[in-house]
Amino acid sequence: MKTININTTHGYDVVISGNLLDKAGDYIRKSVGGSKAALISDDIVYPLYGQQVEESLAAAGYSVIKYIIPNGENSKNIFNYISILNFLSENHMSRSDTAVALGGGVVGDLAGFAASTYLRGIHLIQMPTTLLAAVDSSVGGKTAINLDSGKNLAGTFSQPDLVLCDYSVFATLTQNTYRDGCAEIIKYGVISDKELFYKLYSPINNQLEAVISACISIKRDIVCNDEHDNGLRQILNFGHTIGHAVELCSNYKISHGSAVATGMAIIAGAGAALNICSEGCRDEIIDLLKQYKLPVKTIFSADELYNAALSDKKRTGDSINLIFPTEIGKCVIKKTSLDRFKEIIRIGTVGTIGTEGVS
Ligand code: GLY
Repeated sequence: MKTININTTHGYDVVISGNLLDKAGDYIRKSVGGSKAALISDDIVYPLYGQQVEESLAAAGYSVIKYIIPNGENSKNIFNYISILNFLSENHMSRSDTAVALGGGVVGDLAGFAASTYLRGIHLIQMPTTLLAAVDSSVGGKTAINLDSGKNLAGTFSQPDLVLCDYSVFATLTQNTYRDGCAEIIKYGVISDKELFYKLYSPINNQLEAVISACISIKRDIVCNDEHDNGLRQILNFGHTIGHAVELCSNYKISHGSAVATGMAIIAGAGAALNICSEGCRDEIIDLLKQYKLPVKTIFSADELYNAALSDKKRTGDSINLIFPTEIGKCVIKKTSLDRFKEIIRIGTVGTIGTEGVS
């Protein structure tokens, strides 16, 4: 078991361990107290783990209500957001009460947005059940829903009160969902931890606690330095600008991790062509992605990706911040004009248009 303290304006612990679900109630009571807990989950996760968490909450003295959304990115919408707000209100949840997000990134982002805006903020506990949510979205306080024009376009910065990461639940993930998390882990290696990157040549599942802890420690250092995403934090979005465009172009049929893998491959390709990184660095990134059977090619054209990427939050006026690797374990943020960005997508997608690894 490892506990990592995130020392943001509202500090909190991330507990990383196997077999945590039964202890959730006790952890939550110690962290936030209160009398009511709203468990927010999805229709795949709840049947597997919901009852265990409910029983743990009840044993710790909570009266529990639950709200279950359909699994999948398309649930991260304004209608579910409003429904959750109404649900919290109809159940007379007060500011001393707690929302418990049990699920992957969709559940965490949506529940987080609802919890941070209902009554101007109630307590929130993140209980990530996917590898991707464990290493990224459950930590750092970004909450969001998608709008028609793009991903995560409405949301808040609002840190949770506690993150309970029980990695024993990853045993029931599908291979594709597990791989999504691997893409985010590879991202951490590329942007800031060479040692982590090379560790990933050995299977992640034999070193889960160490790998998750390494990722969360990197995220802690970045988020504590730039909680509101004005500078350094943008490096966490390596591969994401084009990744979000791939997701949007596919109407979210391509998962976040797969899309980010393609985005990383495209940006690494452009980086090598522009001498920002070596061809060797590009090849190592692409080889590791392929080792995890992540897609490094896209069926979408450079024009389609460019148009979809225009709603990216790292865009300011006529420019956009792009994150390039400079070597394994290091990266740079480059402010780029939109014209140049279009060109960079074209350069990066040369040789990546196709279906290899596209699932
Ligand atoms: N997922 C990127 C961030 O939290 O900033």
